[in-house]
Amino acid sequence: MTGHFSEDGSAETVNDRISAEADARLAEVMRALVRHLHEFIKDVHLTQPEWEAAIGFLTRTGQICDDTRQEFILLSDVLGASMLVDAINNRRPQGATENTVLGPFHVDGAPRYEMGADISLEGGGERCLFEGRVLDLDGRPIEGAVLDVWCDNEDGFYDVQQPGIQPAFNNRGVFTTGADGRYRFRGIRPVSYPIPDDGPVGQLLGQLGRHPYRPAHMHFIVSAEGFETVVTHTFVEGDGYLSSDAVFGVKSSLIASFEPMDDGETRWRSTFDFVLVPVTPG
Ligand code: BEZ
Ligand code: FE
Repeated sequence: MTGHFSEDGSAETVNDRISAEADARLAEVMRALVRHLHEFIKDVHLTQPEWEAAIGFLTRTGQICDDTRQEFILLSDVLGASMLVDAINNRRPQGATENTVLGPFHVDGAPRYEMGADISLEGGGERCLFEGRVLDLDGRPIEGAVLDVWCDNEDGFYDVQQPGIQPAFNNRGVFTTGADGRYRFRGIRPVSYPIPDDGPVGQLLGQLGRHPYRPAHMHFIVSAEGFETVVTHTFVEGDGYLSSDAVFGVKSSLIASFEPMDDGETRWRSTFDFVLVPVTPG
């Protein structure tokens, strides 16, 4: 072996340089990455201008990132990579609540509320009651389960996207279940909204004829001692984007009922039970 580069043996030439002392998992991942990358370049017969365009795209993707904007995760989301990594790492038994994307708008330290509290701090929107139970696989209530919830406002923006316009922690809250495993809070019926599309990822979506919208959803992180944490959403049934979510986050088991109700200001009631899987030892 000369170690010199040729089209035919390109991937092997690169991979043969990996030292035997390299971390075994890193070497495994990088070998596969190089193999697939070289196969891809040959498959599409990538041209020099296309390669330059790709480098320019990745450069712009990095340049727009800062403490509050992560364009690479957005890219992973619109390519379905985020959902695939999540799927292969969170296989759960039938009946357990499925995960979906976390998204960039979760904030640590949201206010802890008593059950029944209203998480919408600005008024507006269509008022909605969210309620249900946190259960184990045998249908028993889980006491002490923590639900961290957040959603957009009636204009389709999260509070962190509009500092100074929306109150901090608008449409966010943390609730802890009692012995009956029940949760109950008020807020607004979420609305569909576009993912941030003023950067390279949005431009790519436009060039591909893809829209940037997500169907309306309420985010939940549900955790309890001894159980796997569920990072998920409930989706508003009937939303027009359920079949074309820009980040592929919809699973049919996560579509929740939103029934009209007439209780003072509250116009909607959404019920959903979360079913958690025990942590497997080891
Ligand atoms: C979200 O649901 O908040 C979200 C998820 C992925 C990308 C952008 C936003
Ligand atoms: Fe969201």
